[in-house]
Amino acid sequence: MQLLNASGCLDALTAPDAVAQLDAFVTKTVTPEPREGNAPVRIAETEHGMLNAIGLANPGRDRFVTDVLPQLLALGKPIWISVGGFSATDYAETCEQLGCDGVAAIELNLSCPNVDEAPESAAEIVAACRERTAKPLYAKLSPHSWDLGETVRAVEAAGADGVSVVNTLRGVALDARLRPALARGTGGYSGPALKPVALAAVRAAREATRLPIVGMGGVQTGRDALELIACGATHVALGTVLFSDPFAPERVRRELVEEAKRVGFDAVDDVFCAAFDSVVKVEN
Ligand SMILES: Cc1cc2nc3c(=O)[nH]c(=O)nc-3n(C[C@H](O)[C@H](O)[C@H](O)COP(=O)(O)O)c2cc1C
Repeated sequence: MQLLNASGCLDALTAPDAVAQLDAFVTKTVTPEPREGNAPVRIAETEHGMLNAIGLANPGRDRFVTDVLPQLLALGKPIWISVGGFSATDYAETCEQLGCDGVAAIELNLSCPNVDEAPESAAEIVAACRERTAKPLYAKLSPHSWDLGETVRAVEAAGADGVSVVNTLRGVALDARLRPALARGTGGYSGPALKPVALAAVRAAREATRLPIVGMGGVQTGRDALELIACGATHVALGTVLFSDPFAPERVRRELVEEAKRVGFDAVDDVFCAAFDSVVKVEN
């Protein structure tokens, strides 16, 4: 089991101490062109989670390669690059350009609720990227899909090496005057309320594949992480919790071991797929 950050939830260069607690660092999504992101207000607190409409603000792939990536590689952790785009060609070209030495994996962000989507299907995008990179490719999928299992089977057939679930759910928050709190109107909902959605998505994905699965969504504690593993997650990523607790990775790792013991398992790995008899039993 590896503990990662969720894309967009940790700035490695301003918080290297947080990165040091992780097994690998996942970048914010990189797009072909620089993006300012959406107009403010881009973040809103809600009762049980957070709504964001950042809109993939990033320096673009050229400046990412020259200015950001060397600094990330100097941190000495495996780097996963999150790749986004507006067509299969965008994704594939970025994969080719970013697939340099030291990059451990590429996570294809196929599920950002805050920007227009590429017209191609997730599987078509994975297939286009597969032709251009030999790096491990993870497909990050949306919880909105009714048949997540079918999408997981399709991206696996297209050449994905793993699956990341879940990205945020689309949501709206209203201010005191009943107007949208976010300038864009809608945003991506993350945090504690997402956990049951993430557990269901990991379970559905695990029923469809033996590939590694990065589980994320609402993890605050070691117990939350253990529940994702029990549903079939191979790895766990921490997102919104990092904004309030930069030491969450260390704490969650400790709590994971304690909680597994408390529930009666000798080791965290023994919890893998323990929740459902129906999920595929795979070696971790
Ligand atoms: C402020 C913010 C920015 C995010 N940016 C990205 C992003 O650039 N790419 C991406 O794939 N997911 C992005 N996400 C989604 C997270 O990676 C994660 O999938 C989601 O927040 C669920 O996990 P959590 O409930 O632990 O936060 C972002 C989430 C937040 C809260």
